[in-house]
Amino acid sequence: MSDYDTLTLDIDADGIALVTIDLPDASMNVWNRALIEEFSAVIDRFASDDAITGLVVTSGKASGFLAGADLRMLSDVPADATAAQVFEENFKLQSLLRKMETAGRAPKDLLKGAATAKPVVAAVNGLALGGGMELALACHYRLAADNGRVQMGQPEVQVGLIPGAGGTQRTLRLAGVQTALQTCSLGKPMKAAEAKAAGFLDEIVPEGELIDRAKQWCRDNPKSTQRWDKKGFKIPGGAGAMDPRVVPIFAGASAMAQGTTNHNYPAVQRILSSIYEGSIVPIDTGLRIESKYFTKCLMEPQAQNMIRTLFVNKQAAEKGMARPEGVPKSDLRRVGVLGAGMMGAGIAYVTARAGMEVVLLDRDMSYAEKGKAYSAKLNEKGIGRGKLTKEASEEMLARIKTTTDYADLKDVDLIIEAVFEDPGVKRDVTEKTEAVIPEDVVFASNTSTIPIASLAANSKRPDQFIGIHFFSPVDKMPLVEIIRPEGTGDKALATALDYVAKIKKTPIVVSDARGFYCNSVVVPYLNEAALMVKEGISAALIDNCAVHMGMPVGPLALMDETSQELGLSITRSAQRDMGDAYVPTGVEDMLELFVDELGRKGRKVGKGFYDYPEGEKKRIWPGLTEHYPHAAEQPSAEEVKERLLYNQLVNAARMYAQGVVHDPQSADLGAIFGWGFCPWTGGPMSYIDMVGVKTFVETADRLAAKHGDRFSPPEAFREMAKKGQSLYGEEKAAA
Ligand code: NAI
Repeated sequence: MSDYDTLTLDIDADGIALVTIDLPDASMNVWNRALIEEFSAVIDRFASDDAITGLVVTSGKASGFLAGADLRMLSDVPADATAAQVFEENFKLQSLLRKMETAGRAPKDLLKGAATAKPVVAAVNGLALGGGMELALACHYRLAADNGRVQMGQPEVQVGLIPGAGGTQRTLRLAGVQTALQTCSLGKPMKAAEAKAAGFLDEIVPEGELIDRAKQWCRDNPKSTQRWDKKGFKIPGGAGAMDPRVVPIFAGASAMAQGTTNHNYPAVQRILSSIYEGSIVPIDTGLRIESKYFTKCLMEPQAQNMIRTLFVNKQAAEKGMARPEGVPKSDLRRVGVLGAGMMGAGIAYVTARAGMEVVLLDRDMSYAEKGKAYSAKLNEKGIGRGKLTKEASEEMLARIKTTTDYADLKDVDLIIEAVFEDPGVKRDVTEKTEAVIPEDVVFASNTSTIPIASLAANSKRPDQFIGIHFFSPVDKMPLVEIIRPEGTGDKALATALDYVAKIKKTPIVVSDARGFYCNSVVVPYLNEAALMVKEGISAALIDNCAVHMGMPVGPLALMDETSQELGLSITRSAQRDMGDAYVPTGVEDMLELFVDELGRKGRKVGKGFYDYPEGEKKRIWPGLTEHYPHAAEQPSAEEVKERLLYNQLVNAARMYAQGVVHDPQSADLGAIFGWGFCPWTGGPMSYIDMVGVKTFVETADRLAAKHGDRFSPPEAFREMAKKGQSLYGEEKAAA
């Protein structure tokens, strides 16, 4: 056995070394500094010791082969590091894998045939993503276990990076330009069969034979050398600027990439460049080109922001960062869902899908059944796509019990209420439910507008009352806001977080303010777009600018989705509840016109800012300009974008300054996963840090002078700007 911590090394009687990567105290293998160091030591020995005749690399984890580089390590770039230093640091893994595939022989000797490398085989037993796929690609032969768990992929682009351990160069040399471009720029994982068809795997073998077959390949190919280290190697399918087979591929891929990313993700362009440039040079130069682009990505704030929010903080939130200490983990097996409407049906679905039983209660059995039918419908889709078996669907549906009888709630471990948005109805169901459920069961409301504290006042045990706020559609939206009013105890918070972890969504914990965090930003953002329409700005310009900025859909289309009817009802309840404190939005009359006079209540009735003709693409309602004629002079796209962006930034900043959302991490997570705020920024707080708090304050002030106080930045941010502080911590020298 070996003296290593992160791997074991066994050399058999034939001299074949079996390296089994198995990081201690980790559920999954990743390239971290310790593994790179120990793997280097193994490769040095492999290259220099003639008694070692071949190498098999596998993983000791049931969870997979290797899931990529440790993103925490990558995001840990010292502020004063130069590009050359970052390059050298990251080139270590490139050199290591290159040394493995050449067995330390000089590439020119391999090319001349003056030397041969030694066989290296990947025995892939599960996920091989990012740096894990790159490790496999640097092996001469790749076997995968036929266990259904193998996936390969280069997902770096999803956190603003490019593959940095040879991914762009070896996918290119194994599978050709088109497949390399797709694999690296889309970042989608492939199942074993797909990876084999692409040329990334050589064989899929029974799991029990994986290692034996890998060793056998070493014995059968004692003088193995990578194909690109042999004379006469050509990239499959053609390469370079002159080959008519690939010229249109490069041109098309470039256009498509810009079309889909709107120039917001420089990593995509760099992947294309790395593959293009790499296709006309030898592999060693190609690897340096890749590392140069990788370094560029890593040194810019965008990748750092994306890694921080989309990976580090997301994972921390999902692992219970906000969970109070000392509360035992709750064993949630049965959940009572009150109200089987749009939200209740979705909540029942995600709960049953996660293996819990659901008691789905409505005032009428037909409504409860309709709610359950929603799960059946989603399951049917899953079966159609081959993602679910009929049996699994039946088992899942059997876990949902529909009822109108409160007595059926007596054994539940948690209640989630999603009845009408009416305080009276909510009070009634709370009282009826508490009459039957055990004393210690937590009661959560999914209300979108009613303060949780006022609902908790109906409860006999307000310390066990909490808000669990889902987003629509529940099965698709990844975020859940947990609202903890004063008086709610740790147990309720811990239970809510345990539940959200079970359904595999991302939680943020927020305070009990009107609209909580997300809707306090989204509603004014939608209103801003509506105000622009009133000012005569073209609806197409508004929605296209939002999409170009990186939002998934334009705000007018989003308003159609959430419905003008809901917008009006939120406005009316705010007017009613806030009385004199209500600040007019300026779009009250527009909502009334749309809903009450024109019946343009939203997408659900096929009419909003857009028309939704059956079977056709949506189009802007031609009548819009009759009510709100286009202004003779339209603002520039940059002006529209800035207004849409800053509206969200200022309100997110306000929510943070007011303590509704407690930390920049949650504000960023909530924005990206709750309403789709431009993921390339890492979230509004990351964006503010990226441009600097000072610039944010100045820009917001400029917009406030032009458009009104709603753009005024919060006082706390002015203070931060003065002190040269940033949101994510370290003090910056006061400008
Ligand atoms: P919905 O109108 O589709 O469903 C409400 C369901 O509650 C109906 O099936 C109704 O029959 C049932 N119900 C009404 N009174 C009842 C009673 N006394 N006992 C038992 N069941 C009763 O409404 P939706 O959209 O599902 O909203 C439910 C809750 O979720 C509301 O509090 C809403 O504010 C909140 N919410 C809604 C979101 C949305 O996008 N629609 C997003 C997040 C929260």
